Order: sequence, then structure tokens, then C-alpha cells
Amino acid sequence: MKLVTPNISWQENGHPFSEDYKDIYFSAEDPIGESEHVFLRGNLLPERWQQLDRDQFTLAELGFGSGLNFLLACKLWNESPTKGQRLHYIAFEKHPLQLDQMQKLHALWPELQPFSEQFITQYADQGSGCHRFLLSDAIILDLHFGDAKDRLNQLEQRAGIDAWFLDGFNPKRNHAIWGSNILQQIARLSHAGTTLSTYSVAGTLRRNLNQIGFTVKKIQGFGRKRHMLQASYEQTDIQNQPLSDAWNKVPYFTLPSTQKNIAIIGAGLSGCSLAYSLSRRGVKTKIYEVANTIAAGASGIPLFSLRPRLFQANSAIAEYYLHSFLFSSKMLQSLTRFGELTWYQCGVVQLQSALNKKSPLKTLSLTALYPDSVLRNLTDYSRTKLRSIADIETALFFPQGGFVSPASLCAAYCTLSKVAVHLNTAVATLVQKEIKVGSPNIYKEHNGWQLRGDNGDLIDTVDAVIFANSQNISQFEQLRELPIESVSGQVTRFAGTAESNNIDHIITGERTLFPSTDHELVSHLVAASYRNFDGLTPNDSFSDFDNEENFKAIQKSLTNKSLLHNDILQSQAAIRSSTPDRVPLVGAVPNINIIKNRYGGLKRNANRKFDNLYTDQNYWPGLYISAAHGSNGLATCGYSAEILASLICGEQLPIGQETLDALNPIRFAIRDLKKQIS
Ligand SMILES: Cc1cc2nc3c(=O)[nH]c(=O)nc-3n(C[C@H](O)[C@H](O)[C@H](O)COP(=O)(O)OP(=O)(O)OC[C@H]3O[C@@H](n4cnc5c(N)ncnc54)[C@H](O)[C@@H]3O)c2cc1C
Ligand SMILES: C[S@@+](CC[C@H](N)C(=O)[O-])C[C@H]1O[C@@H](n2cnc3c(N)ncnc32)[C@H](O)[C@@H]1O
Repeated sequence: MKLVTPNISWQENGHPFSEDYKDIYFSAEDPIGESEHVFLRGNLLPERWQQLDRDQFTLAELGFGSGLNFLLACKLWNESPTKGQRLHYIAFEKHPLQLDQMQKLHALWPELQPFSEQFITQYADQGSGCHRFLLSDAIILDLHFGDAKDRLNQLEQRAGIDAWFLDGFNPKRNHAIWGSNILQQIARLSHAGTTLSTYSVAGTLRRNLNQIGFTVKKIQGFGRKRHMLQASYEQTDIQNQPLSDAWNKVPYFTLPSTQKNIAIIGAGLSGCSLAYSLSRRGVKTKIYEVANTIAAGASGIPLFSLRPRLFQANSAIAEYYLHSFLFSSKMLQSLTRFGELTWYQCGVVQLQSALNKKSPLKTLSLTALYPDSVLRNLTDYSRTKLRSIADIETALFFPQGGFVSPASLCAAYCTLSKVAVHLNTAVATLVQKEIKVGSPNIYKEHNGWQLRGDNGDLIDTVDAVIFANSQNISQFEQLRELPIESVSGQVTRFAGTAESNNIDHIITGERTLFPSTDHELVSHLVAASYRNFDGLTPNDSFSDFDNEENFKAIQKSLTNKSLLHNDILQSQAAIRSSTPDRVPLVGAVPNINIIKNRYGGLKRNANRKFDNLYTDQNYWPGLYISAAHGSNGLATCGYSAEILASLICGEQLPIGQETLDALNPIRFAIRDLKKQIS
């Protein structure tokens, strides 16, 4: 997760020089002129973007460096008639620059300041994995930190890459980034008409590009460079090796964004963030909510804390949780900047007692694994301040953590997405229905869905449905076999004291103590009890017993036992939903009967391979889910919404195939077949 920072020296002209690769980042004379010539015009972007007739354009860059090419692409996109269309810029960088280095460089290009500012305010972290940035003008930046070779391997072809910028260091000094390994991935992710450009005209590169299906031309270079390469991909009949098992091939929805009509069931954090992510892609959604208000379920708890779920070693799932946290932290900051809500980025202190007791996490190796911007030891200053409050000897600190009212976050998502929210509407069943789209002469039929209420009355007919109704998913026939567990939890607000008024971080032990937001009437929310939900008591009924438990448990973490009064000012209960492996259900909804029949052979041989034919039938057409967010919904709902929106729109995802498989709801049916549980 932590990456090696680049070893840079600064030249007289203020440009960086890589001491690791002994090379410059860009032209000494005219970096902007060179970048526009080699990469933007080299890929014919000015002409292509004048007449773009698709929802999205996907660009990929090898060697992000300072992001100059990215900023220039944003500027050109903004100047082109691309309103309502999306630019998806995917970049790879092995040695990310530090924030101060990035700022120093961007100051050289005042004309790019509007784009730089949006990027820099979100650029805080240098951990490995894909950092997704949302910018204005419908620009998405996926910044993959790590070796391009390893990151490219994990991307599915999907709609493919439309243009490539190859901007590694000189091939003589940085062979790996031009190697055949990487070029093969480039070919795999390209489609007929994909272009590529680079400043290098090395003979081996030209030959290798030719070999993998590119037609390569030497054209005039920039400035003193005589030539550069321009290439276009011509192959159409490539049979790519699948990245995963046949059952993990998730179909995507081929209607153009503006024609998609999607219903979301549930107006909690999951449903509202989905409406927001889809609206950024021009997709119309409607939310159906059984309660008389949004955020009526678990997302109605008064405050949520944002902190990352930690893992002892890097893995696809560890990366998902880290990037859920980072994405949500950026989202909350940006919504606050635009006045949509109040996000308190106060930092979270995590005490030893909060760490998983079954297999204790070792704090030393955690601080070695996670980047400092995510997790660090407390400073001496904080230690001195907190010592009189809690036992902080082995505590960890998350500086980007904080808290927010989830209901106000749901409201912000609904306002920004302009989604139509239908309250007091319980969706009871879904019935498959053929839908015609297009005009009378060219109707196309596809499978849609009727939403029906308790009495069978028709609520709506839509192209697709997303289930965001948490523990209630099992009420639907199509989801009945997905395992979902319910755990109820309760928060209690206790009266504080003059001393507790000084607490300015969240403190998490067996319970979580939130700082007081009112400095006159000091009070602290304490979260939360855990109780297996028996399904008998109503969702929101709270108990005195849990209030008592909350008080006792928080007192255990506090060294000063008179910091809080046992005066209960508020208590509220709700249900968290989760899965047996504690990872949410995010993806297309599998058709379990088909899965059981088609992959029944796994019962005899768990390693059996299956062909990739007709895999679309493994999933119900147009049914998707984002649920079972457990105790981490503030981090995972928004990020999962982005993943699902990308999946539905056929975009490249911010996660690799391995992570997608680990979130895929199909995993439980496959696991059962392999374990011979029918
Ligand atoms: C006490 C407690 C404290 C927590 N603290 C934190 C925290 O500090 N940080 C954190 O990250 N997470 C926390 N969580 C977890 C967090 O609440 C969840 O992960 C998150 O709210 C899940 O959001 P959701 O949208 O999936 O579910 P919900 O918010 O429960 O939304 C589901 C919605 O679906 C609606 N619905 C259900 N069935 C239907 C139907 N048939 N038709 C129409 N609508 C329907 C429900 O009314 C509900 O509004 C806490 C949870 C609890 C219980
Ligand atoms: C010439 S610089 C890129 C300049 C950049 N486009 C800019 O505008 O600043 C080359 C970049 O490639 C990165 N790089 C080198 N090897 C890499 C690899 N294997 N994977 C990803 N990035 C790599 C370097 O760290 C460096 O930032």
C-alpha cells in the first residue's frame, strides 16, 4: 500500500529530474507545447472531440508524473462541444509525486489553474491502488498508483480505451514500462480505431506495436525532436483470455445513458449515493422508499464516523476498504466545500480495544503498511492532550477520519442528483416485462421490470432496478438465496462536562465517542451496541439495557471516569445488514437456479473450468444490488455506488477484477457448490 516516493532533484528552470531513472519529466523548452503536440494532437483529440457521438471517451496514460497531460486534456475537453458527455481519464504511476512537489509544478502553469485546483484539493494520498477523482465537466480521473504492469492486468476490456498516451521515461532508462508485457495489455484493452501516441520512435517499440496489431506512423516531432509515433489499432477479431472464472463475467447494460430508466429501492446511504453517481452519468433514476422520509433505516442514526477498515496485509479486499475510505473522504470534503453539508474532519483516534479481538492486528505492521496520510501514530502533542482522557499508549490515528450526519449526506445526494424520491412506497415484488425502446420503425425490445406493491398494484415499469434496501433484500424472489445477516445497534447521547468539551477527535474503543458539536450544551453521542436481530422487535425500538451497556463500555476506554454523565439525552436503534464474509453485495444479481445447474460440476471438482459462453444468462437482466454494508456504510456505500454506476454504464471500474469478484453476490452460490452444499 505504501509506495516508494520518487527521488527527484530540481533543475534551474524549476522542472523535476528523476535521479532514479536519470531522465527529465518533460521538455525543458515548452512542456505545454510538446504535450499538446505529442499527446493531444498525436491522438487527433481536437477533431475527435468536435464530433464525439458517444456518451463517453476513455483515455489512458502510462506515466502520470505531474499530470500535465491530464490537465491539458481537461482544458481541451472543456473547450470542446462535449456537454452531457463524459471524459474518463485513466492514468498509471509507479512513483507518485508528493503533494508539495505536485503543487510546485502546477504553479508553473497558471493557465491550467482551474483544473489543477480541482485536482490538487483532492490529492492527499500516495497509497497503492486506484484513486478515483470526480471533477467538473463530467471528468473522472482514475489514478492507479503502482506498477502499470500489475494494474493493467486487472482491468476488464469492457468498452475499451479510445486513446493511449505513452509517456514513460526514455525506453533506454525505463525498459519495463515499454515492455511487451505492458504492450500486450494495451492491445487487449484497445478496440478497432483506438489510437496511441508517444514521443519515442525507438525501433523495438515500433516493431512491437506492429506485432500486437497497431498500424504505426512516424510523424513530425515537437521542437528539436524530428519524429514521434502515432498509431492506430486495427484488429477486430481478438479472443482475449478471460481475467476470471466464467461465472464472474458480469454483463453490462448497453442502452445509452440518457435512455436508461432505473428504479432504486431504498433511500438510505446506498440508494441515495447510487442516484448521485448515476446522475453524473446522465442516467435518470427514481427512488422508491417504504418510509415517509429518506434515511429512515440505519442511515438515520444521527452521526456516522468515517474510518478505514484495516487489514494486516494488502489484498483485493484491503484495497477496496482503503479506497472506499479515501473516496468518501474526498466526497465529503467536496460536498462541504460546495456548502451541501457539514463534514467534521476531526480525525479518529483508534484505541487498541477497537481492533479485531479474534486475530489482533499488530499496530507496528499496520503503520508500516498504510500510508501516513491514512494512518499514523499520535503526535506527542495529541498524546499529552489525550492522556488524561483515554488509554492511548498503542492508539492509532486516522487524520482524514471524521463524522457527518448521514441523513444530511443522503439529502445532499438527492438534491444534487435531482432524483425523484417516492416515499411511503413499499416495493413488494418484481415481474419481468419486455420493454420497447426507440421509435416505431426501429423498436428494440429488451427485458425490463415491473415494480409491484403489496396488493400486486403496478408502481412503475423500468429498464433496470437496483436493490439498496439493506436487510430487506430477501423479500424479493430474485434475491432470496443471497445470504444476509441482521445485527441491531443502538447509539446513546450522554451529557458531557467542561472537560469533555475539549475532546476534538473521535475516540474509538469498544464504543465510539463523538466530540460535542454544541459547546454550550455539551453532549456526546456514543455508538454503538451490537445485538443479533431476532426479527421480532421493530427496527427502531431501543432498549435501556443497550444504553446502560453503551455507558459501561465507553467508560472502560476512558481514564477519566467523570468525563461523561450517565444522563441520557437521546437514543436510537437501527439494523445493520451484513454477509457471512463481512464484505458487501455489490454487482449484478445472479440467477441462482441457472448457476446451480450450469456449474453443478463444481460439486465433483471444485477446480473445474467452464467456458465463457452465454454467461449473460447467469445474471437477471437489469437487476443490480448494493447492500450489506455492515458497520462501514459511510465509507463503502458511496464508493460502491461509483463502482456500480461504472459497471452499469460499461465504463472501466475503479477496482480490479479480483476486487469485483470479491464483491460479486454470486460468490456465495459458487462457494456452496464447491463445498457441496446444495
Ligand atoms: C447503530 C449503528 C451505528 C452505525 N454507525 C456507523 C458509523 O459510525 N459509520 C459507518 O460507516 N457506518 C455505521 N453504521 C452502518 C451504516 O448504518 C450502514 O452501513 C448504512 O447506513 C447502510 O445504508 P443502506 O442504505 O444500505 O441501508 P439503510 O440506511 O438501512 O437503507 C435501506 C432503506 O431501504 C428501505 N426499504 C427497505 N425495504 C424496502 C422496500 N421493500 N421498498 C422500499 N424501501 C425499502 C428502508 O426503509 C431504508 O430506508 C451504523 C449502523 C448502526 C445500526
Ligand atoms: C516522463 S515521466 C511522465 C511525465 C508526465 N506525463 C507529466 O506530465 O509529468 C514518466 C513517469 O512514468 C512513471 N513510471 C516509470 N515506470 C513506471 C511503471 N512501471 N508504471 C507506472 N509508472 C511508471 C515515472 O514515475 C514517471 O512519473
